[in-house]
Amino acid sequence: MEAGKTVGLGFRIGTAWLLAALVALVMPFGLSAAPAGVPAEVTFTRDIAPIVQRSCENCHRPGGVAPMSLATYEDARPWARAMKTRTSIGPKAGVMPPWYVEKNIGIQKFHNDPSLSDDEIATIAKWADSGAPRGNPADMPPPKQYIDNAAWAIGAPDLIVKMQEIEVKATAPDWWGEVPSVPTGLTEDRYVAALEIKEVNDVDSHAGSGRATVGGRFVFHHMIWRTQVLDGKSDQEQDPLAIFNDEEAVNWPVHEVGRNADFFDPKSARLLKAGSSVVSDSVHLHSNGRDTRAHLEIGFKLMPKGYVPTYKRAIFGLGNGVDIDIKAMEANQQLHAYTVLQQHTKIISFEPHLHAPGARMCLEAIWGYTIQTLNCVGYDHNWVRGYDYTDESAPLLPKGTILHIVGFMDNSPSNKNIPDPRNWQGSGNRSVANMFIDLGIRVALTDDQFQEEMAKRREKLHLTKNDVVIGCPLCLVTPVPAPAKASGGQQQ
Ligand code: HEC
Repeated sequence: MEAGKTVGLGFRIGTAWLLAALVALVMPFGLSAAPAGVPAEVTFTRDIAPIVQRSCENCHRPGGVAPMSLATYEDARPWARAMKTRTSIGPKAGVMPPWYVEKNIGIQKFHNDPSLSDDEIATIAKWADSGAPRGNPADMPPPKQYIDNAAWAIGAPDLIVKMQEIEVKATAPDWWGEVPSVPTGLTEDRYVAALEIKEVNDVDSHAGSGRATVGGRFVFHHMIWRTQVLDGKSDQEQDPLAIFNDEEAVNWPVHEVGRNADFFDPKSARLLKAGSSVVSDSVHLHSNGRDTRAHLEIGFKLMPKGYVPTYKRAIFGLGNGVDIDIKAMEANQQLHAYTVLQQHTKIISFEPHLHAPGARMCLEAIWGYTIQTLNCVGYDHNWVRGYDYTDESAPLLPKGTILHIVGFMDNSPSNKNIPDPRNWQGSGNRSVANMFIDLGIRVALTDDQFQEEMAKRREKLHLTKNDVVIGCPLCLVTPVPAPAKASGGQQQ
């Protein structure tokens, strides 16, 4: 008995001491900006619903692009285990939400980043593991309002251009080709702040695709397009190279199935000319296993009237479209491509463009002795993503920087996007061939603009001499060395 009491007392003291110690340990972190942690008891209404509303519901709601709604407890409850599995995969194919930035390397600030924190992932797991309880209905956040089922991530567009409707038969083979141009209807020059493309089709979004194809129920797999003033010329008479020397013709980010919206740098919004038309000579259609009528809608968010861009777009390629060589039955194969920046450059977005074997891409900046990995992101050919840096995180790279991309290819049975990994794969436009490009958006800066951008960043981030800024190798070099007298470099 005596011994028992002592032991009991010992435990009590021990527990109290431990608790005090824990509180002491946790408090300082709790008061700082550290993550809130995982609640002791996780409920749907209090803990899960806010995560779903922020990061899942724009797709997982009635009529959204996802196969099921997660908006209410009744909707989400049957998917609890699947939610745990899909959110905890890490930044690679299959993860939900579909966003693949690796969090342990490179820049971490992006516009519209829907990804979950480690704590949120652990919270979903704990909810699933503890029987997925509902919790107190009063804790449920008010339902989010959506304008309509086809809500635009860019907000209500100022201009929507509807492309011509086409029909893709259930058994139709793949098709690549030209579609008729469509006038934008714009009567004055305007600049575009953001852009989003939606496929509108007659497939019931709740009925599944009927076939497990890349792209699910969607039939427009890509559209490479530009806007151009046609001046009465026919589509065939247009010069596709006008985009390189004529401001009447502007190339826009490629539409790809599953791709997200584009937000342009406010200082370098792109011109949409009065009287221009949407022109495309490269559309790829892929049957979804049903007779489908579909058209694309291009939503433009415009800059205010009178807006004038500060920065010019930087036009250079970063990729290798020629000698891609991907062996059969092998994971983790690497491709490399380089370019040397001919002018100071701000990188607005990173957009790996690979095909089915694509598993990952890294973007690296090499300046003198400094080699920085700007980002590594996973890749899933079902979900083509562009990653838009925030104004404070966008890489500011001096002229002479070498940009290097590394593509990681998985042509093995573990990659579900590969129809038959026993095939060697080379370059080409088709989905069974390969591309290896960073389609990201960049702007060119003059010497003065480059200095201004770096000064702004020093101030905004309160940088001291001891900081290292990924993506800004000269940010802390003050006074800044005089610009090198370029001998060979071509200013664009
Ligand atoms: C951008 C749209 C989008 C977002 C955001 C999104 N999902 Fe999904 N989700 C989809 C689509 C489309 C599918 C079906 C295709 C697939 O499995 O990749 C899917 C599939 C799933 C599945 C598998 C369903 C099955 O049939 O097994 C789960 C589970 C899931 N999502 C959970 C989530 C959770 C949890 C979140 C938020 C943390 C989320 N998703 C965010 C679009 C999205």
